[in-house]
Amino acid sequence: MHPASPPELGPLRRETVDGLEIASDRAEREHETDFVLGAGPASRLLARLTIRRHASAVLDLGTGSGVQALLASRHADRVVAVDVNSRALAVGELNARSNGIVNVEWREGSWLEPVRGERFDLVISNPPYVISPDSNHSYRDSGEHMDALVLRLLGEVPRMLEEGGFAQVLCNWVVGADRDWRSTIETAVSERGCDAILIRYSLEEPAAYAERWHERLANVDPHAHKEAIDRWVAHYADNGVEALAFGIVVLRRRQAERNWFAPSSLPGLRTTRPATTFSGCSKAGTGCEMPPTVTSPWRPPPAAEFFGASIWRTGSSASRSRRGRMSASRRVSTSVWPPRSLGGIRFPQPTPNASSAWACS
Ligand SMILES: C[S@@+](CC[C@H](N)C(=O)[O-])C[C@H]1O[C@@H](n2cnc3c(N)ncnc32)[C@H](O)[C@@H]1O
Repeated sequence: MHPASPPELGPLRRETVDGLEIASDRAEREHETDFVLGAGPASRLLARLTIRRHASAVLDLGTGSGVQALLASRHADRVVAVDVNSRALAVGELNARSNGIVNVEWREGSWLEPVRGERFDLVISNPPYVISPDSNHSYRDSGEHMDALVLRLLGEVPRMLEEGGFAQVLCNWVVGADRDWRSTIETAVSERGCDAILIRYSLEEPAAYAERWHERLANVDPHAHKEAIDRWVAHYADNGVEALAFGIVVLRRRQAERNWFAPSSLPGLRTTRPATTFSGCSKAGTGCEMPPTVTSPWRPPPAAEFFGASIWRTGSSASRSRRGRMSASRRVSTSVWPPRSLGGIRFPQPTPNASSAWACS
C-alpha cells in the first residue's frame, strides 16, 4: 500500500511497473526545473533490456523516480542511485519505502562524481539524452552541446565496472554528413577495455525528431509549437545534423588486447536480451575472444517483435574512427530489412542469406 506523499512533495501520480508501485510528478509540474519523470516508454525499454543476473553492486545514473534502481534491487546485494535533482531522490526514497525495499542508497550529485573510485557489476542509465538547443528540462535535456553528454558517459562508465561487469545506457546521438550511424558510438567506447553492443532502434530526420518532443505543444499553443520546431531544426542545420539516432549501448568490461564492437539496427526492438548475446559467445566465464557475430549468440525474438523484419549479416571489417584512425575494435555489422534509406541515409543493401545469419560461427 502506497503511503501518502510527504507534504513537501505535493500530490504525485502512481503507476505500476513490473509489480512495483512507482510515484512520480504529475504532468502539471512538467515545466518545473525539478520535475520527476514517471516510467515512460524509454524507462520501460531500459527495464526490459536490463541484464537481470545477480550483482553485488548496481549503479543507477540519473535515477529519477528510482524505477531502475528499485527493479535492480531485486537481483543485487546493494544499489546506488544517483541524481542531481534532490526532489528525484526524495521521490525515489518514498518509492523504496512504499515497496519495502531497503538495499538502495540514494546519493545526490552529478553523474559519476558521487561514486568516484567505486566499482559496480552493473551500471544502468536512462540519461537526459535529448539533443536540443534547450536546457530547461533536467530530466530531458542534457544541457551539453549536441550528444556530448551521452558520449562522455559512455567513455567514463567503463572505469566504474568490475571485470565482467555490464553497463547499459540509453542514447540519442547525431548522425552527420558522413551518414555513418555507428562511428560516433564506436569512437566513444573504443579503447575503454570493454566489448560493446550498439542496438540502434530508430533514426529520425531533424524535423521529425523536433516534432516528437513537442507533440503536446501543437494542441496547446500552435504559435509556440512552430517557433520551437523552427528553432530546433535551425540548431540541427547549424550543427551539420543529418539525422538523430536512438539506441542502447551495452558494454561489458573485459581486459584484452582487443575488444569488439557490434553495432546492429533493430527497428521495432522489444525484448532482445543482451545477456544472451554476451553469454552465448563466452568460451569460459566472462572471457570472450571472438566478436559476437551478433548472429550467433543472438536468439531471434518472435518475428512479430521485429515487425516482420529479417536480419542479415553485412560482414565484418576493421573500421575507421571519425578521425580516420583504424579502430582497435573489430566491427561486426548487421542491418535490418527495411529500410533502404531513412533520414536521407542510404543503407548497404543485403545479400539475403537469412539462414546463415543465425548460424553459430
Ligand atoms: C530521463 S530521466 C530518467 C529517470 C529514470 N532513471 C527512468 O529510467 O525513468 C533522467 C534523469 O537524469 C537526471 N539528471 C540530469 N542531470 C543529471 C546529472 N548531472 N547528474 C545526475 N543525474 C542527472 C534527471 O534529474 C533525471 O532524473
